[in-house]
Amino acid sequence: MDLSLKMKEAAGRAAAALVKSGMKLGLGTGSTAIHVVRTVGELLEQGKLRDISAFATSFQTEIECEKLGIPFYSLNSRELSGGLDLTIDGADEVDAGNRLIKGGGGALLIEKIAAYSSASYAIAVDETKIVEHLGINFPVPVEVVPEARVTAGNALEKLGANVCLREGLRKAGPVVTEHGNIILDIRFGSPVDPAALETELNRIPGVVENGFFTRIRPRVFIARKDGTVEIRK
Ligand code: 5RP
Repeated sequence: MDLSLKMKEAAGRAAAALVKSGMKLGLGTGSTAIHVVRTVGELLEQGKLRDISAFATSFQTEIECEKLGIPFYSLNSRELSGGLDLTIDGADEVDAGNRLIKGGGGALLIEKIAAYSSASYAIAVDETKIVEHLGINFPVPVEVVPEARVTAGNALEKLGANVCLREGLRKAGPVVTEHGNIILDIRFGSPVDPAALETELNRIPGVVENGFFTRIRPRVFIARKDGTVEIRK
């Protein structure tokens, strides 16, 4: 198996060890988080975990839960009543303070709602995701209502960002999120203040959410090329 895939699996499986029976569990999105979902599915099947009430952060995760028989609910449901014990997700970039960029898979809005309503939060990544400064290599996704594509884009450029409309693959035109919005991927040429920008970007009319996750400091499971997984608090 390709080394990058191996690291994603190792990180996801290591983070899944945090899951305990009876938990209300937020399940993230992407090629690393899917290993958390699969591990939880296996443990339920083997009877080593029970009474998990899951919340899936995307269609991708819902479909995987369906396949594996993991019971999942709306965050508004009586089962979850707006609160999660633990959410485990992947990330696109992680800095030394465990602040994140997320949304490479376009699921940042629900991922952030899950993260910020969880008592405990963990992130699984491979070592290539660790960076010194957020937002320089990997763009920060900004979810925007379609009508604000140009106005929000102009406002983001005024903040010094290079703005790129995310295009679909195997579909002409922009990516449309689960909530009918578009994504503007923005990049900065020099280091920025992610905490200040997380607030500031959301003040632009038409911006629904952005991919800086700075207000919750997760436990980060980092899979290394040598096969080890470091846990950074
Ligand atoms: C999806 C996300 C993902 O967690 C992030 O893009 C990392 O994905 P992967 O594990 O596939 O590299 O934020 O919106």
